[in-house]
Parts: sequence; structure tokens; C-alpha cells
Amino acid sequence: MTSEVNMKKIAAEHAAKYVQDGMKIGLGTGSTAYYAILKIGEMVRSGLSIQAVATSDASEKLAMEQGISLTPIHQIDRLDLTIDGADELDDQLRLIKGGGGALLREKITAYHSERLVIVADEAKAVAQLGAFPLPVEIVPFAYEWTIRSLAQLGCSVQLRRKPDEGLYVTDNGNYIADCRFQEISRPEELSSRLGTVPGVVEHGLFIGMADQAIIGCRDGTVRLL
Ligand code: 5RP
Repeated sequence: MTSEVNMKKIAAEHAAKYVQDGMKIGLGTGSTAYYAILKIGEMVRSGLSIQAVATSDASEKLAMEQGISLTPIHQIDRLDLTIDGADELDDQLRLIKGGGGALLREKITAYHSERLVIVADEAKAVAQLGAFPLPVEIVPFAYEWTIRSLAQLGCSVQLRRKPDEGLYVTDNGNYIADCRFQEISRPEELSSRLGTVPGVVEHGLFIGMADQAIIGCRDGTVRLL
């Protein structure tokens, strides 16, 4: 039996094998994408030449520590590949993301990538999305009204806080509303409805975006979806 950390690591290191010389790469965020960045850093230090953009301030810092230099977004037309984590994924590669608060930059980056590869441990692969509260990035202005509108979609909403009880603020200066639906039976419909709530900047449902998922399994192997 392999540990959760090792499941993340084997998935991420498998994905790093897709990175080739000359590629433009999107670097994801979270504890699984972390291992992909470490591996890509190792490859760069051994001579691999890539252009990279990061999906969060934390990943940017990690990439720089690893010797991966980041290219300004305006110098990149389109990314070849983004490797990122997920909080939940189903067998149609529909995802919940944003547990790490980076969903906005992650979604923009995924949208502009030729290929989005998701890396995750076995526990993230579910039959139906929704046990994980759906992160929704909202603007601070009138957030109480926005939260009320989100609750009217049939969820209980918790405004994300930092451990010191202050409000969690994203890299973009917004708040995160964690929306507990219990189960999300029609993700496409929910995605459209979330898009109609004023104050919502972006939500963590990623539908039709992922091209492949690499799942690290308890028996030490990877499963490809
Ligand atoms: C951050 C994300 C992460 O990819 C997601 O939360 C998974 O993180 P981890 O690999 O730590 O479980 O969406 O916003």
C-alpha cells in the first residue's frame, strides 16, 4: 500500500514525462502539482528548455526556486500542455477544482492550453461530483448578496477563512465561497447557472477542459483516464 503523498507523486511524475524540449507549459497549483513542478525543475536543471507560466503566486515561487524561469503571459500565444491537480474528477473528466484557491488562474490557463492533464490520487476519482464543496471565486463588493444568491441554487455556503479566522483572499484579491451541494447531478446545468450570478468571477467546475487524468493508485501504479 502506497501513501497518499506517494500516489500524488507517482501521478505527477508520470505527467512530467509528457513535457518535451521547446514546449510551453502551464504549471498547476496544489500538493499534487507540486511534485510535477519539482520533477520539471529537475529536468530543466538537466538541460530541458521550456517556457512556463504558473497558475498561482505559490507555484510561481516554487517554480523559480526550482530554476524554472517564467515567461510573461503576453509573450505566449498558447500553451502546449498544462499539468494541474483536482479536488474531484468523474469518469467524463469533469472536475471540481479550487481547493487551493487558484481556480481562476487555473481555468484561464487551462482554456489557453492545447492539452490539460490532471494529476490526482485515487481518492479524487468519484462516481458523482459534489461531496467536495464547490469553490466559487466572488468579488468582495456585496459578497453577502452574492453568497445569498449562491445559496438559492441549493447549497450551503461557507465563506473561506484563513486559519487565523481572517477571510481568505485569492491571488486576484477576491473571496472564495465554498458551496456544499452534497451531490452535483447535472454539472453542466450548474455551471451555466453559476455564470448568471452577479459577483461570481469564476467557479471550480471544469467541464470539457481536461484531456487526460493520471491517477496515482494505492498499489503504486498509475491509472489513465
Ligand atoms: C487549487 C486546485 C488544486 O489543483 C486542487 O485543490 C487539488 O489540490 P491537491 O493536489 O493539493 O489535492 O484546484 O486551486
